[in-house]
Amino acid sequence: MEGPTLTDLHTHILPGLDDGAASLDEAADMAGAALEDGISRLAATPHSLRWAPGVDRAALEAKVQALMQSLAARGLGVAVVPGAEMALISSLPQQIDAGEVVTLNGSRYLLVELPLTGLPPRLEDILFQVRVRGLVPILAHPERSTDLRRDPRLVRRLVQQGVLLQVTAASLEGRFGAGPQGFAGRLLRERLVHVIASDAHDPRGRPPRLTRAQAIAARIVGPEEALALVAINPARILDDLPLEVEPPRPARRWFWRWLTPA
Ligand SMILES: [Fe+2]
Repeated sequence: MEGPTLTDLHTHILPGLDDGAASLDEAADMAGAALEDGISRLAATPHSLRWAPGVDRAALEAKVQALMQSLAARGLGVAVVPGAEMALISSLPQQIDAGEVVTLNGSRYLLVELPLTGLPPRLEDILFQVRVRGLVPILAHPERSTDLRRDPRLVRRLVQQGVLLQVTAASLEGRFGAGPQGFAGRLLRERLVHVIASDAHDPRGRPPRLTRAQAIAARIVGPEEALALVAINPARILDDLPLEVEPPRPARRWFWRWLTPA
């Protein structure tokens, strides 16, 4: 099947580093699933600090190289680039200063994740401190945070301040429940989403799969923008190029939501 190749910038494919692939075999199955879905390039983004504090950029790059070689030996021609999912905590600016963060493929883009519960104090200030250091934060799966779902204005403000948002494909599919699914749809409608990624953890339960979410997004934002979210934008990010971002649309007032279909 000929078609545009997709880029997945959030996966846990590196074996043995975190709660992602448990073994090389599992990583190979994930690569196979990615290729089947039309994904030709993916970023390995382990929870580097939380799970493996000893792993630095050089160690990650070596692991990515080794994985690529093993995949190639199995005939799996998927490109893997290094990255990390950095915890969005108050010491993040200091970690940047100390050279302890790993950006996506060495670009200006830094994938960051919120703690599982609660928002860090001074969230906006931390993200501002990241940006003044020349990096562009990409917030992973905001739709999965109960606190952000309760405060959509904060999410909109973050985007207006220059934070990019990555929605997780499985959220759009409804695999994390109605809350994340509904909020992901709302963020798409308001043009607050810049990338859809898989956040894949294994070959079957949470696989690297983007096309189902792309089809769902296409019904909300149209096929062209949906393609940008799974192919063009993530590729430009991994190539360290600027994004062409559409300005957010105004949030619809309740009576419009009531009068018009989702
Ligand atoms: Fe993740």
